[in-house]
Amino acid sequence: MTTLSPAGSYDPAATTSGGLTGELARLEAQADLSFPEELRILHELGLDPAHGPLVEVGAGSGAVTRRLRAAHPDLAVTAVDIDPTLLSHASDCGATLLVADAAALPLPDASAGYVLLRYVLQHLADPLPALREAVRILRPGGRLLVTEVDASCWGLADPAYPELASIHAKLSQAQQSAGGNRTIGRHLTRLLRTTGCTDVTLRPFATTNDDRPTADFAPHLGPGRLQPLVASGALTLAEFALAADRWNRFRTDPNAYVMLLGLTAAGTAP
Ligand SMILES: C[S@@+](CC[C@H](N)C(=O)[O-])C[C@H]1O[C@@H](n2cnc3c(N)ncnc32)[C@H](O)[C@@H]1O
Repeated sequence: MTTLSPAGSYDPAATTSGGLTGELARLEAQADLSFPEELRILHELGLDPAHGPLVEVGAGSGAVTRRLRAAHPDLAVTAVDIDPTLLSHASDCGATLLVADAAALPLPDASAGYVLLRYVLQHLADPLPALREAVRILRPGGRLLVTEVDASCWGLADPAYPELASIHAKLSQAQQSAGGNRTIGRHLTRLLRTTGCTDVTLRPFATTNDDRPTADFAPHLGPGRLQPLVASGALTLAEFALAADRWNRFRTDPNAYVMLLGLTAAGTAP
């Protein structure tokens, strides 16, 4: 299989505890948690299987590809990723798989009805080349759909643990040092306009522990994502233990409430 350069700030073997196996499980749990809400928003933003095909750029292990195809078996999907190992786990999705860099897609101009990038731009030092490529392969009138986060409005937890703020800031700093950006959410609408997209809109989506068990929020609130920071020296063992303790308190508190927010931006290709 083709080997391309590393995927920006994203290293699947060093994103969470348990290496690559742990990350595959995290991606799956993350998609499982919020995909129903994400799909509802994608429909509101124009996703209609009659107007495919859809190209999912940075599809990774296919956690979302699999769910998209299950929801819309008639939607033709091409799953693109720079990492052939991750993408090999998407072979059961019923999608065409393509190992490629988001900034140089080996796909013809004006050939897609939709391009979806989910949690990809936050890992790129410069998101614009990837977005311009997405617009290039979209038919005029096709929709660019980008799902992301912004660390400043990730949601809320009650009880909140202010003592964890500096620990979470270190997670953002580590991603930034590696060339990523966990505050990409606030830039989405301007970025889409810069690519020439029109009709640019931004929609938040929320998942709460009234919808799902608190334990299902572990990919976002649990200490797993902090463990690689201990290994790299960015976090002390004491800080890790504090985060693990607060997560244990939170997930066993019958009155705890969490609302997790994501952002999806959409624009129409010229
Ligand atoms: C956090 S994962 C998200 C995977 C998937 N979108 C999901 O939501 O489950 C980020 C993905 O972006 C891919 N990626 C990062 N930089 C890329 C690039 N320049 N071109 C293509 N894929 C890239 C990574 O390999 C990884 O699969």
